[in-house]
Amino acid sequence: MYVCLCNRISDKTIKTLVRDNRITSISGLKKCVSIGSHCGKCLPQATQLIKNELINLTAVTEIDIVQ
Ligand code: FES
Repeated sequence: MYVCLCNRISDKTIKTLVRDNRITSISGLKKCVSIGSHCGKCLPQATQLIKNELINLTAVTEIDIVQ
């Protein structure tokens, strides 16, 4: 699913960047892709995706530590 229609950036791309490049903010994401560079309507959803992916990564890390 595209999050940023203007630049064709998908939720999968954002999740992968957060996971692999340790992105923690919109400004960090903007250094990797041109998200929000036109209308900016995608920024709230992209912010939420970053937060959710960071929560998921934290949960996985905690599970790994417990096991
Ligand atoms: S939808 Fe991302 S800049 Fe327009």
